[in-house]
Amino acid sequence: MTAIVETKQLTRRYGATLALDSLDLEIPAGAVYGFIGPNGAGKTTTMRILTTLLLPSSGQAWVAGHSVIGDVQAVRRAVGFMPDFFGVYENMRSWEYLEFFAAAYKVAPERRARMIDDLLELVGLSEKRDTDVMGLSRGMKQRLSLARTMVHDPALLILDEPASGLDPRARVELRELLKELQALGKTIMISSHILTELAEVCTHIGIIEHGRLLASGDVKTIMGSMRPHRVFEVHLLSDLDAAANLVRGLSGVLDVRTFPDALPPMLHIDHDGDDRSVSAMLAHLVAGGAAVVHFAGQHSDLEDIFLQVTDQAALESATNVAPR
Ligand SMILES: Nc1ncnc2c1ncn2[C@@H]1O[C@H](COP(=O)(O)OP(=O)(O)OP(=O)(O)O)[C@@H](O)[C@H]1O
Ligand SMILES: [Mg+2]
Repeated sequence: MTAIVETKQLTRRYGATLALDSLDLEIPAGAVYGFIGPNGAGKTTTMRILTTLLLPSSGQAWVAGHSVIGDVQAVRRAVGFMPDFFGVYENMRSWEYLEFFAAAYKVAPERRARMIDDLLELVGLSEKRDTDVMGLSRGMKQRLSLARTMVHDPALLILDEPASGLDPRARVELRELLKELQALGKTIMISSHILTELAEVCTHIGIIEHGRLLASGDVKTIMGSMRPHRVFEVHLLSDLDAAANLVRGLSGVLDVRTFPDALPPMLHIDHDGDDRSVSAMLAHLVAGGAAVVHFAGQHSDLEDIFLQVTDQAALESATNVAPR
């Protein structure tokens, strides 16, 4: 996959505040990239630079190969931005709102009507076509805003906290919509501090705090490398103590407890290794004669990863995290 977004040593200061500190970011084309960080981490700042609304203090950024400093027009053609607020546009109906932006993006007049209908359909607002924008609910405004980012058919959508203020149902709908957009070939960068809501849709994540990128990569790799302390449940038909002795002392194994009264008898294995050492442990059990009928680990989600990565101690002990 080629990178559609790339930044090198991207830095932004606001007076004495260092909002972005030498960010090296790469987003592969076709990814749904979750950009995760607490308040003030630098998410909006990064997104505003990538959409040419803000200049970096130093460093560089490219979108679809175009420099955000040197080639502003080309970048703007390649990217659609949904800001974290919805501007006030009074006395404008939904379709007029999209028409307004289509005109601003110089979409040919004869193409606009059809495209606006398609976009309203895509975001589920066909019925609100003639409703005044100010008469839309917040969730509907969010969806209209998302439609707006697409009027010029950009390859990259940058969405700043699109889920904020949405009810649970609207969040589910947003996730579905993001999947549809990805299927249409769009690359999506989406920021949030609510991590679990991104877990299902993201192919990649980046975690940012205090303007620094703490981890970045595909979700599987990051999850696989960042799971200290899981508990594995192993049910066995063979001798429990023999199996416990097999795993004690293996790499990653912290503690082993036996539950002879479980059906079938069970081991609990406290483990702080990566996925490779987990599979080695299972292989060792089976090779040693243990008759394993069930093997399950607790699932760690993005929330855990975020807490781990932003915890300095965990960061230093982790190996697969982007260098700081
Ligand atoms: N216009 C500005 N003037 C001065 N400081 C700013 C400005 N915009 C952002 N900052 C500072 O830059 C840092 C990063 O802010 P940014 O808005 O990028 O964070 P964020 O990750 O989007 O946070 P949030 O989750 O709250 O939206 C913060 O310390 C913030 O106070
Ligand atoms: Mg923000």
